[in-house]
Amino acid sequence: MTPKRVLVAYGTKHGATAGIAEQIGTSLREDGLDAVVLPADDVDDVRDYDAVVLGGALYAGHWSRKAKRCAERNADSLKHRPVYLFSSGPLDSSAEQQDVPPVPAVAQQMERLGAREHATFGGSVTAQTPGLMARVLVRSGKAGDFRNPERIQSWAHHISAELATLP
Ligand SMILES: Cc1cc2nc3c(=O)[nH]c(=O)nc-3n(C[C@H](O)[C@H](O)[C@H](O)COP(=O)(O)O)c2cc1C
Repeated sequence: MTPKRVLVAYGTKHGATAGIAEQIGTSLREDGLDAVVLPADDVDDVRDYDAVVLGGALYAGHWSRKAKRCAERNADSLKHRPVYLFSSGPLDSSAEQQDVPPVPAVAQQMERLGAREHATFGGSVTAQTPGLMARVLVRSGKAGDFRNPERIQSWAHHISAELATLP
């Protein structure tokens, strides 16, 4: 049997969300799936994939525009596939302590696409992150890498397990 093809697409500004997407892709491949990881801007057609994971960074309470546009551009095809959305954001451990619900625009996309699930993962801002706000966060000691590989991997393995039960 040919393995299921899964697209992991991400909308990032500074790379943290891309890192999460890569980890998800690696975990899906460990489970025997054929996972492809792509920037959301590069996704024009999802019909080659059996399932799609789409993630975006959060900035000022908004989901990545690149992820949103990808969802909108491909909505007709996404509606007919299992879709999982994720957000990368909180610069603290809140995403590990409780389920952080999707921001309104993501909740709307979930509804529109019939997405199966949404997960929020901690984000990352470090001294290497460009931008004034990033510098302010670093100087005030509020920056850091709050991505938790175990949580990310565990969500990806859960997706693989769910996809294995679907036709
Ligand atoms: C200017 C700025 C605004 C941010 N706003 C939010 C926010 O509203 N909610 C949130 O959870 N995280 C927020 N973050 C944290 C980012 O979402 C987090 O660093 C994310 O992982 C960045 O992803 P990227 O590197 O893929 O762009 C903000 C970070 C910066 C620098």
